Amino acid sequence: MVNLITVVGAGNVGATTAQRVAEKELARRVVMVDVVEGVPQGKGLDQWQSAPIEGFDSRIIGANGYDETAGSDIVIITAGIARKPGMSRDDLLNTNAGIVKQVSEQIARTSPNAIIIVVSNPLDVMCYVAKKVTGFPRERVIGMAGVLDTARYRAFLAEALDVSVRDIQAMVLGGHGDTMVPLISYTTVSGIPVTQLLDRKTLDEIVDRTRNGGAEIVKYLKTGSAYYAPSSGAVQMAEAIVFDQKRVLPCAAWLQGEYGMSDIFLGVPVKLGRGGVEKVLEVELTPKERVDLGKSAEAVREPISKLTI
Ligand code: NAI
Ligand code: 2OP
Repeated sequence: MVNLITVVGAGNVGATTAQRVAEKELARRVVMVDVVEGVPQGKGLDQWQSAPIEGFDSRIIGANGYDETAGSDIVIITAGIARKPGMSRDDLLNTNAGIVKQVSEQIARTSPNAIIIVVSNPLDVMCYVAKKVTGFPRERVIGMAGVLDTARYRAFLAEALDVSVRDIQAMVLGGHGDTMVPLISYTTVSGIPVTQLLDRKTLDEIVDRTRNGGAEIVKYLKTGSAYYAPSSGAVQMAEAIVFDQKRVLPCAAWLQGEYGMSDIFLGVPVKLGRGGVEKVLEVELTPKERVDLGKSAEAVREPISKLTI
């Protein structure tokens, strides 16, 4: 367990993340920060009152400022707004970039040694903003998306094969969007290549459903997006860091030459431990996967060029 984990944003993803962090006792103290007065305090108090029933001793509180977060070991950023009527993608991009910039400045000031896990969208661009503003080394700014996209892919495969989700090993790389790259070549069921168990058409349908996994949920919810699986993803990454698990997970990492790319956050296999990103693993890709990863990188670079912060 570490001393303090901060979750910025007490909305759907943030509050669920904080609850999961506390239930797993990843930190002695959990602080949830939000700009809305009363909401983080109220949710934090409610969560703390679940402690005697759930049996955890992590002390959760909510706050509107950063004094209570000083010296955080890990900060998970989930702050942001959803697209509103009349707002273009670029408006949303710059609004959320402004929010992540303000949050990152406060983190750099109060928790200069923290490891940051970014969740806010557009994910790969918000990672770029957090790294640029804090000036933290690449080991300490990591994006959560690949764990979620891979979980969706694994869930759909388990359903199609009628096997346990535990036995599906897979990896989805690239940016968090339509251009993500599920690696069929590395997908196995307890070591058996998935191509021996499912026909190409079914696999292509599952890949397509994975790419649209977020949108499928928004279509049902209408006014919000997914948060149970996203919070599980962020907490799995935090857990790997807290317990120095050396997990190999797909995360958005700042590339410095790996996969032939530099100065960009992109989903790649990463070894996560107490030092944060301890290694970016470069795996062999088929020519098509390499081309698709390149296209995904282009889709991440394009909005960065439109940032006004
Ligand atoms: P939400 O709207 O429920 O919560 C966002 C919260 O951020 C609100 O409570 C709002 O008051 C707060 N906030 C706004 N500005 C702030 C600031 N300057 N400081 C602190 N808090 C601030 O949204 P939800 O569903 O929790 O999603 C949060 C973000 O996570 C969104 O950007 C969403 O797109 C993203 N997301 C990313 C995923 C991924 O795979 N990377 C998956 C799911 C969501
Ligand atoms: C998702 O994939 C909205 O990024 C979010 O569900």
